[in-house]
Amino acid sequence: MDISVRSIKKDYIKWDWQAGKNVPFSDEMTIFTLTSEKAVYALAAIESGHLCHVFFGRRTDDEDLSYLLRLGENPYTPKVNEREMATFMDNTPFEYPVFGTGDYRESALMIRDKNGCTSLDLRYAGYEITDGKPILEQKLEDCTVRLPATYAEDTQAKTLAITLKEQHTGLEVVLYYTVFEGLDAFTRSAVITNKGDADVDILRAMSAAIDFDSREYDFITLNGSWARERVIERSRLHKGKQAVDSIKGESSHQSNPFAAIVSHNADESTGEAYGFNLVYSGNFTACAEVTQFDRTRFVMGINPLDFSWTLNPGSSFTVPEAVMVYSSEGIGTMSRTFHDLYRRHLIRGIYKDTRRPILINNWEATYFNFDEEKLYSIAKQAKELGIEMLVMDDGWFGKRNSDNCSLGDWYVNEDKLKGGLAKLVDRVNALGMKFGIWFEPEMISPDSDLFRAHPDWAIQSPGLPLTRSRDQCVLDYSRKEVRDCIWSQIKAIVDNANIEYIKWDMNRQLTEVCSSALPASRQRELWHRYVLGVYDLQWRLTSEYPHILLENCSGGGARFDPGMLFYSPQIWTSDDTDAVERLKIQHGTSMCYPASAMGAHVSDCPNHVLGRSTDFNMRGDVAMVGTFGYELDVTRISQADRDEIPAQIERFKKYNPIVRTGDQYRLGNIFEDNTWDAWMFVAKDRSEAVFTFVQVLNRPNYRSRRIRLAGLDPDRKYRSSQTGEIHPGSTLMNCGIDVMLSGDFKSATIHFTAV
Ligand code: GLA
Repeated sequence: MDISVRSIKKDYIKWDWQAGKNVPFSDEMTIFTLTSEKAVYALAAIESGHLCHVFFGRRTDDEDLSYLLRLGENPYTPKVNEREMATFMDNTPFEYPVFGTGDYRESALMIRDKNGCTSLDLRYAGYEITDGKPILEQKLEDCTVRLPATYAEDTQAKTLAITLKEQHTGLEVVLYYTVFEGLDAFTRSAVITNKGDADVDILRAMSAAIDFDSREYDFITLNGSWARERVIERSRLHKGKQAVDSIKGESSHQSNPFAAIVSHNADESTGEAYGFNLVYSGNFTACAEVTQFDRTRFVMGINPLDFSWTLNPGSSFTVPEAVMVYSSEGIGTMSRTFHDLYRRHLIRGIYKDTRRPILINNWEATYFNFDEEKLYSIAKQAKELGIEMLVMDDGWFGKRNSDNCSLGDWYVNEDKLKGGLAKLVDRVNALGMKFGIWFEPEMISPDSDLFRAHPDWAIQSPGLPLTRSRDQCVLDYSRKEVRDCIWSQIKAIVDNANIEYIKWDMNRQLTEVCSSALPASRQRELWHRYVLGVYDLQWRLTSEYPHILLENCSGGGARFDPGMLFYSPQIWTSDDTDAVERLKIQHGTSMCYPASAMGAHVSDCPNHVLGRSTDFNMRGDVAMVGTFGYELDVTRISQADRDEIPAQIERFKKYNPIVRTGDQYRLGNIFEDNTWDAWMFVAKDRSEAVFTFVQVLNRPNYRSRRIRLAGLDPDRKYRSSQTGEIHPGSTLMNCGIDVMLSGDFKSATIHFTAV
């Protein structure tokens, strides 16, 4: 990893329209080159002060990429004349393009100044290179919130900070670029400071903008809905704009803050892939625009729709971090780079590098219908089978016997849990099991003591009825007193019993986004202030209770984003626990998120979402490439299924180190052929690998399927746990192995060990 800075004088000849002849000119530029192992990211401040994008892609030995700027071909260059400045602005690749001064493409920054004008002219003012990576923070009136972001020690990363300045408003923008040791990943962020003497409203502030020199790419996004999250969508880039975004207040079931721009030929192992992911959990946009000159501009950041932020003189706004990954070896390598980056530099806490406890969650087992004896009986049976933690889901607090009340009243319902929470937890602990609990801290039920005391704490627009969703409303997390109240309630529960896991849920999206505590001029800040409030509370939770394993969740997988991963090492992937649907959900999620982060449970059949019945073994194999656990009434499932659990747990324990820390290879593509799937996880030292094949539907009159393995060391020999045969890695990868199963919804896992 390296960041180099060079001053380069380039000579050009170009036609000067005013003079009517060719004129020679030169441009002194400062070129910044960030190099990782196999990728390079280059940008240049040209003599006029414009900060231009030069190149992002495969690393070459030639460090001087400034020739790519081709200023001589531009109809205008600031050095020659100003006759066609607007054309220059709309043609030049910019690093942080601004709105209003001739660049009509998607911009990174748009403001409204004291005169109500929206035009900007940012120019280069200097740079700094530091070891490591600075943290990102947002100062608010009553606290400072740390933004989720990747982190690194001084030896693990280098950061370039480039300062841009604006004359007429006094705005200063510092762009941050980090390159990481051993990873083809770069991050970007920006801090915008008002150094002028009048308020400035930010109307749009992107985290990244990249100008590609071509339109010959495909655009990949992750879209879905409840119980069907992160379906891969891939289409050719076309003229105009294509985007994935959210305006729901969270990253959402429907969209994920991920996008990839890949070459048309890109598949798992070949072609170029640029992956982008926003470390943010609120409204976002990721938009690719093919321009009039058949180039592509990509921008990613907070969704500018319904957003503004007033910067008083002296104050700053920090945009969330964008992660950029490059691979010249296909989409699979792109994903593995994301996985490594997040496992090493985003996920935190004591569970970062350790196996998570095997849990049993009572949601699908009991829904709201439980008491302490029921939970204890599940725990007792589960313990005998090797399960390590009981998670008590929704329904333990207030008067909650259905989903229509009590959110906000986080005190134990002693009609249900007789003798209180601590008594139950102690009994479960005495079995040798940990205890976890569910909260939905951002919500308020209209039928709750909290709402009766503080109706204005629900997000609402004066004069409009409260739109309920699942009969609930959203708390105004921009208000510190609201967060403090919920925090003290959570603390009372956590301090009262030995809680070792929390599931933090969020079961509705935002409407009527207005705060009774904000002035009219600042109402459009609420979407972002809300997310900052969530981050503030999750930071408090993870700092004050570092031993608690946090799992984020949102109606299933509506908040599976890198922002959440900064706080919780795992996220509930989907409410859909059907093992067939999970193949798609987990495949899509693995585009940029590691298996170690995917909440995955074996549930009962017929499946509660789909009514489908699959083999217990297959349900286990699919859940094993996630955090693993059970979500069923273990006292009531069939004896045959129950008998399988101890061996399943043994397998999970054996393979989890490889799944959690190794390299993932997607061998099947369930989106293209939904009759089978296969994947491999290979240990980093390639000494062993776990291969799983899932036969969704059997085929008549075919004997077997031949599947080529991937990621093995071609020069080592591996023994198959299934056949005992030993073959070189090269053979297993070139020729493949035959797998044959009988029946539908079956699976097989094979362990390969180097001999
Ligand atoms: C959401 C979650 C579920 C469960 C319920 C409880 O839907 O995704 O796992 O916790 O809420 O109400």
